[in-house]
Amino acid sequence: MNNEDYPRDTQGYGAERPDRDEFVSRFGGIYEHSAWVAESTFDRADGLSAEELADLFANCVDVAPYEQKLALIRAHPDLAGKAAVAGELTIESTAEQNSAGIDRCTAEEFERFQMLNGRYKEKFGFPFVMAVRDSNRHEILAAFEGRIGNDLDTEFETAIGEIHKIARLRLEAM
Ligand code: GUN
Repeated sequence: MNNEDYPRDTQGYGAERPDRDEFVSRFGGIYEHSAWVAESTFDRADGLSAEELADLFANCVDVAPYEQKLALIRAHPDLAGKAAVAGELTIESTAEQNSAGIDRCTAEEFERFQMLNGRYKEKFGFPFVMAVRDSNRHEILAAFEGRIGNDLDTEFETAIGEIHKIARLRLEAM
């Protein structure tokens, strides 16, 4: 990797080329609780723009085995779930859920999230994942009601697609 090639906007290291640990500490959270994405792409991240880095990360996930993708989906906390209530979300997830107003749910909306979270996980074996930053909680609940009717393959692919969107938004926000 060339210092001059290392983009300031994505990496924020100025002229310094990050070593592996710095890279993983900076990008390990782009995919929720899944630092393996940053770890296994470090060697190919030379001089990439933010857009290219997002593509590299996405491709790494896309070619991963099914079980690893499943673990990635399962690494996501429920929307309006127990971890959110207990204040145990990652900084990124907290910001995403709050930006969609999930922290301001009425008791009734909160109940709907709990009911849907339970039904969804019972049906698919993983949590409902949606890139919520540009949506409000009413739109999220409507999407939730719609997606719960999908089949497993559709929902698995949709979840991975949403996770890529979340990753891109997290990269842009850096
Ligand atoms: N969409 C954006 N962030 C999250 C998250 O942390 N969990 C879920 N389930 N969806 C999200």
